[in-house]
Amino acid sequence: MQPIIKKKILLGVTGGIAAYKSAELVRQLVKAGAEVRVVMTPAAREFVQPLTYQALSGHRVYVDLFDAQADSAMDHIELARWCDLMLVAPASADFLGKMVAGYADNLLLTLCLASRQPVAVAPAMNQQMFANAATTANLEQLQARGVLVWGPDAGEQACGEVGPGRMLEPAQLLANIETQLQPGKLQGVEVLLTAGPTREAIDPVRYISNRSSGKMGYALAGAALRAGANVTLVSGPVSLSAPSGVKLLRVVSAGQMHDAVMRAVANSDIFIGCAAVSDYRVDGEADHKLKKSTQAMSLQLLPTTDILAAVSALDKRPFCVGFAAETRDLEKYALAKLQQKNLDIIAANLVADGSGGFETDFNRLEVFWPGGGHSIAQASKPEVAKQLIDLIGERYTGALSDNPSTT
Ligand code: C5P
Repeated sequence: MQPIIKKKILLGVTGGIAAYKSAELVRQLVKAGAEVRVVMTPAAREFVQPLTYQALSGHRVYVDLFDAQADSAMDHIELARWCDLMLVAPASADFLGKMVAGYADNLLLTLCLASRQPVAVAPAMNQQMFANAATTANLEQLQARGVLVWGPDAGEQACGEVGPGRMLEPAQLLANIETQLQPGKLQGVEVLLTAGPTREAIDPVRYISNRSSGKMGYALAGAALRAGANVTLVSGPVSLSAPSGVKLLRVVSAGQMHDAVMRAVANSDIFIGCAAVSDYRVDGEADHKLKKSTQAMSLQLLPTTDILAAVSALDKRPFCVGFAAETRDLEKYALAKLQQKNLDIIAANLVADGSGGFETDFNRLEVFWPGGGHSIAQASKPEVAKQLIDLIGERYTGALSDNPSTT
């Protein structure tokens, strides 16, 4: 593991008794060579004085919005941009709820909204508060949006109760930060991705499409970006915003997606086909809205071009990763697709068993490559995306050293 010397950590402290442990975390981070700035919520001041963190970090502590604005060297947006990673520890139930709702009524909340860097939270609260459905739902939402949730631990609590809700120990939080800040496996690599559904027009107001939300593809774009890649995302119609830094090309139909990919592919090292591309389009889209009648009607459908297969058949092909959404015989169909489409990796998920897939925030994947495979356990799509990008990074680097002419 590479050291975190000179890495910039923004530590947010909210109102909870575990705030005293964050002082120890600051000490350990500084000892490990990191630069630390501390932001406290007003409630945190009830537990620990800012001076404690100031003495340990060697920098002034920010408490409210107007502090940061008064500091011409570092306003609140700059503070958010300054860091390599932001960690809120302890993160109280109240703070997590406000993060979910997008509140910005104190400096730390504004920083969470303004951050482009990874944001982690270390929840700390009474075990009953942690078990409450509101807290569980809040943490799930944050995870689905890409916030890293570290902990909590279980054990004896300050209030005397026993159960899950203790903040992770400073040494564990330091280890998590170190892991998170390891250099990306795809530094400088060009990644081209497809995501979302496509729409095949029947007439100007109707279309054929599918239930893909685009969440997995967008999570992969974010994970590839964080792994150091330059990312181009060709997206069908979804209601998501692309992670900032991603080059987004919006398309509607399978034909448009194909053309956009073919224009961009020459520059790419890795192609990930995550879109649920329509397999058919309507032969002879009507110019005007079709009128209803009591008669049966039929549509003639023509197959679309398989974008992934077309990319993998190129003479100078990128490293190709495909997806297989199946409702049964997952491994059999996935392995067949791996071979038929001449892929380097296929990531397969069952879309019928409720553990992930279309329209959900969670997923689990069975990943296969020629001669091997790996399971990614059920987790939020951003977490699954991170693990898949790590795996792609390893296989891609291996392919480069096995065969320098792969790309
Ligand atoms: O054959 P099937 O549609 O199940 O394969 C799914 C994989 O192929 C996905 O990676 C999907 O993005 C890709 N695909 C494609 N173009 C199509 C159909 C599927 O790129 N027309």
